[in-house]
Amino acid sequence: MKRQGKRDKWNSSLGFILSAMGSAVGLGNIWRFPTVVALNGGGAFFAIYLVIIFIVGIPTIIAELAIGKKSQHNVVTSFSKIKPDKKNWKGAGYLSMIASFVVLSFYSVIAGWTIIYLAGSISRQLLSGDAQVITRNFEIISQHPYLPIIGQVTFLLFTTIIVIKGISKGIERVNKVLMPGIIVILLILFIRTAFLPGAIQGILWFLKPEITKINFQVALNALGQVFFSFSLGMGAMITYGSYLGHQHNVPKSALIIAVSDLGVAILAGLTIIPALFAFGIPPETGPGLIFVTLPAIFSTLPLNILWASLFFMMLLFAALSSSVSILETSVAYLVDERKWSRTKAAYSMSAGIFALGIPSALSKGKLSGLAILGRNFFDFMDFLASNILLTLAGFLTVVFVGWIWGTKSALIELETNHPFKQKHLWSLAVRYVVPLAIAYIFVTGII
Ligand code: PHE
Repeated sequence: MKRQGKRDKWNSSLGFILSAMGSAVGLGNIWRFPTVVALNGGGAFFAIYLVIIFIVGIPTIIAELAIGKKSQHNVVTSFSKIKPDKKNWKGAGYLSMIASFVVLSFYSVIAGWTIIYLAGSISRQLLSGDAQVITRNFEIISQHPYLPIIGQVTFLLFTTIIVIKGISKGIERVNKVLMPGIIVILLILFIRTAFLPGAIQGILWFLKPEITKINFQVALNALGQVFFSFSLGMGAMITYGSYLGHQHNVPKSALIIAVSDLGVAILAGLTIIPALFAFGIPPETGPGLIFVTLPAIFSTLPLNILWASLFFMMLLFAALSSSVSILETSVAYLVDERKWSRTKAAYSMSAGIFALGIPSALSKGKLSGLAILGRNFFDFMDFLASNILLTLAGFLTVVFVGWIWGTKSALIELETNHPFKQKHLWSLAVRYVVPLAIAYIFVTGII
């Protein structure tokens, strides 16, 4: 544990890259991506998603890491550290912090289901060859009066304990084992699904863009998914960037993070979407999708307990390596600015997040009658965070880099030791393309 006032740093560049990958790769790729693809018309969504990654996602990761690296501060004060006369920009920092709260409040619900499924796989209770039984199991768990809350609080406790340990201890080392692990398991599952009867139909549905299905609602969902999956718009990348040394090559790391995140999402999509078709599970299933399809795939494999347990364990670890970065965002603020101890900051933030998350945990059970704007509480929080808060905060962040700090000054920071070949393209993106794209998609998608 670090003393207050002495900021932690990454031990190595590799450690940073793996941890930032750990933040990006998580439930967003394996749980949320296949779900939103399924709900938004398959290939049409995927095509827009790819475009948005390149014109919005990658330039924004670079911008966030640059802010962090330059300011060496938490998300709230980072803006005014760089531009001391722009005190109002703290508002953008607070917005990011609020977003982090909302994200973790429902993220921990899904991660809690993962813990329950892990226990249910080890004890064999949740494995069945019958798709109907599997669907029913999911209903029982997600509608249970208190089980989802137990899963959620357990997950938040794990997250808190890791965050208390600090940046350089634990997270870096753990990620080195977990990242390759999840890829290997996903590859095995992908190969298994590809041989299921009917799978090819699903693969085609996922990859074939049907132009007629593209509209602004789909684009807004794709934009929200890019922000969510890349951990953008809530200060996680600013915070992780703030523990970087001066020499680090930010654009190169950003590209590695983006490509690996996309790779894992594609692998998850190619595994889960075809399985839907093969097992006759409707694509509109929503957030429960992977909890229904994956146990169905596992039950067709020999050693099903082993695969199911390994998978849910990996999913849990992927969720943890992301949730740690979400909690760290507000903890860094309290430790840097308010001089709280890490322990006090981590416990109080996660207690608040837990309280906010309870209605999400119960949104399929006791609180299923509660609807906000036509969505249940969980779906509303997800929509609010991903499509509104993250995109708004992300918008302010790029405007700050493009126009307030200025891309010229930002490039001095980015080119400390390494030439940045695409710097003109990046400047163009940060000043014009990204803010305009976000504003356009946002306004038309919301209306
Ligand atoms: N990117 C993470 C995931 O895909 C979630 C996340 C969102 C993490 C925002 C940090 C910030 O699971």
